[in-house]
Amino acid sequence: MTKIILNGCLGRMGRVVRELTENDPEAQIVAGLDIAHAGAGLTFPFYTALSYCDMPADVVIDFSDPNAMRDLLEFCVEKQIPAVIGTTGLLKGDINEIDAASERVAIFKSANLSLGINLLSHIVEKAAKLLYDANFDIEIVEKHHNKKLDAPSGTALFIADTINKALGGKMKYVTDRSRKKEKRNRNELGLHALRGGTIVGEHSVVFAGRDEVVEINHSVLSREVFAVGSLKAAEFIKNKPPGLYDMRDLINSL
Ligand SMILES: NC(=O)c1ccc[n+]([C@@H]2O[C@H](COP(=O)([O-])OP(=O)(O)OC[C@H]3O[C@@H](n4cnc5c(N)ncnc54)[C@H](O)[C@@H]3O)[C@@H](O)[C@H]2O)c1
Repeated sequence: MTKIILNGCLGRMGRVVRELTENDPEAQIVAGLDIAHAGAGLTFPFYTALSYCDMPADVVIDFSDPNAMRDLLEFCVEKQIPAVIGTTGLLKGDINEIDAASERVAIFKSANLSLGINLLSHIVEKAAKLLYDANFDIEIVEKHHNKKLDAPSGTALFIADTINKALGGKMKYVTDRSRKKEKRNRNELGLHALRGGTIVGEHSVVFAGRDEVVEINHSVLSREVFAVGSLKAAEFIKNKPPGLYDMRDLINSL
């Protein structure tokens, strides 16, 4: 049984994690955190700040906001509780703080907790090496619901980083072509964000060559995919020594 503190428990992802754990004999939410006001019906103690929470737990699952990061890391280091960080839109400073905290407690960080997107990143890594050398241009298009705060998505950036690493770090990310009247440069990696309706998450990596286009796509049909991934990550990380872990570590352990 994994005892979980859920940060951002009133949000869209928080709700799905709550629903999934209701009938799960292997996972239990022992406390929930959110800055919003909780209505009735929560089946666990609710807190508005981590500093008030002294509930023993195996892991914190976080689907909240980058602003929550400092308190979350301090709490996890002090209480020696590993964290699964699903929140995206993290700034460089947040990432540096996560890296520093991971020297003292286990942290699992993933901008996309679905198995499919992590498989896509493996495929894209191989395709990028081959197709860039064959003069293909590479662009990423992502689509999300109209409530999403960050753009481009954490997943689009994760895929871009995978491609950039595979190509030796020479790619320059371009998110806006409206300001310059210039031809596309070969080392550009375009990232395009569409926002609308209730789209859960779609990512498309486009390799455009001379007279042919290869597209690798991934669609998520429900948030449950991410919630299941976060629970698997929680189970994976709960007794791990300090360090930074991600979906590759989880997949390699299966
Ligand atoms: N890693 C993944 O696979 C994955 C999947 C889906 C969403 N996400 C990310 O997870 C985050 C949450 O997504 P969502 O759709 O549930 O958003 P949401 O806006 O529906 O929920 C966020 C919740 O966090 C709460 N919150 C805000 N600041 C907080 C703080 N400082 N401390 C505690 N709670 C705070 C909000 O009140 C809200 O209830 C986003 O960053 C999103 O991009 C990641």
